[in-house]
Amino acid sequence: MKMALSNPQKTNDVIEKNLLTPLLVRQTEVKNRIVLSPMCQYSSVDGFANDWHLVHLGSRALGGAGIVFTEATAISPEGRISPYDLGIWSDEQVPFLARIAKFISENGSLPAMQIAHAGRKASCQRPIDGGASLPLEKGGWQVVAPSAVAFSEKSQIPKSLSQAAMKEIVFSFQQAAKRAVAAGFKIIEIHAAHGYLLHQFLSPLSNQRQDEYGGSLENRIRLLGEVVQAVRLVISEKMALFLRISATDWIEGGWDLKQSIELAKQVKQLGVDVIDVSSGGIVPYAKIPTKPNYQVPFATNIQEEAQILTGAVGFITQIKQANQIISSNAADLVFIGREFLRQPYFGLKAQQFLAKQVSWPKPYGYAL
Ligand SMILES: Cc1cc2nc3c(=O)[nH]c(=O)nc-3n(C[C@H](O)[C@H](O)[C@H](O)COP(=O)(O)O)c2cc1C
Repeated sequence: MKMALSNPQKTNDVIEKNLLTPLLVRQTEVKNRIVLSPMCQYSSVDGFANDWHLVHLGSRALGGAGIVFTEATAISPEGRISPYDLGIWSDEQVPFLARIAKFISENGSLPAMQIAHAGRKASCQRPIDGGASLPLEKGGWQVVAPSAVAFSEKSQIPKSLSQAAMKEIVFSFQQAAKRAVAAGFKIIEIHAAHGYLLHQFLSPLSNQRQDEYGGSLENRIRLLGEVVQAVRLVISEKMALFLRISATDWIEGGWDLKQSIELAKQVKQLGVDVIDVSSGGIVPYAKIPTKPNYQVPFATNIQEEAQILTGAVGFITQIKQANQIISSNAADLVFIGREFLRQPYFGLKAQQFLAKQVSWPKPYGYAL
C-alpha cells in the first residue's frame, strides 16, 4: 500500500547511485540501501515474539527501511544472551514470527533474521537489570565456548565444546534458518560478531583449542564455514545470505582486518553474499575509538579486497552521512541502529531529502 507523489523538497534529478538506489543480491531486490540493524529488544518470554516485536519491526518497515532485521535470534535456549531474548529453536515460535515477516513484506521491506548463539556471553541479566552474568542458581545456565576461558572476571567459566556438541550447534543453526524461511524471512544473517560464539571460534583471544578447530586461521574459521554451508543448504538459491563479523578485536594478537579479508574471501566461495562489518566485543578491555563512520573503512577494505558486497554500521545517524557512504562506494548498504530507535521514519525522511518521487505508506501521504 504505497503512494507515489512528487517531492516538493527535491528539485535536482538523482543522477548517480545514492542511498535510495535498489540493490540486487542474488534474486533478492532490496529497494534501497537502508537497513535496520539487528538490535536486541529483551522483550521475549521463552523466546517467543510478541506484539512488541510486531510494532517495533513493523514501524521500521513503515519507516522506509529496505531491510528490517530482527534482533539476534537464538538458535537454542542456551544460545540466548538473556532469558528475554528472541528465539527460533522451536516450530511453535514460527507462527508469530510469520505474522511479523508478512507485515514487513506487505509494507515493501524485506524481513530479515539474524540467527545467533551467544556462547560464553550467554546467561546474563538483560541490560535494564544490570547485565551481570547469571549463575545457575539465579535462573542462568551453563555457558559454552571453544575453550574454558571466561569473557571477564565476573563471567561464568564456559564449558569447552566437544566436537559432537559443535555438530549439534551447526545443526541448530541450520534448523533455525529453515524455520526463518518457513516464517517468511527473505534474508538470513549469521551472527559471527561482537564476541558471540562464532566470533569466539575466530579469535585467538577466546579460541585456545588444540584440535582442528583451533590454532591456525584455517582451523579457527572451520566451524563458521560449516555453519555457512549448513545454512546455505536449506535456504533457496535466490535468497541472500549475510554474515556479520567484527572486523577487528582492537587488540594486538587478536582477530584483525587481514584475517577478516581472508575470511570474507573464503565464505564468499561458500555462498555468503554480504559481509555486515562491525567490530569489537570479544573482550571487555578493548579500547575502541568510536566516532561517526569509524567502522566504515573496514567495510571498504573488505569490499575491495574480497570483492564482496559489504554493509557499514556504527554511529551513522545522518541521511547525508549515510548517503555519502553509498554514493562514494565505501559500502553497499548502511545499517542504522540507534538512530532508527530515535527516528523510526529515517527511510521516509531520506526519501524527502533525496528522491524526486517519494513512496510513503498511503495513509501517511497526507503528511507530505
Ligand atoms: C540496544 C542494542 C541492541 C543490539 N543488539 C544487537 C544484536 O542483536 N545483534 C547485533 O549484531 N548487533 C546488535 N547491536 C549492535 C547494533 O546492531 C549496531 O551495530 C550498533 O548499535 C552500532 O550502530 P549504531 O551506532 O547505528 O547504533 C545492538 C545495539 C543496541 C544499541
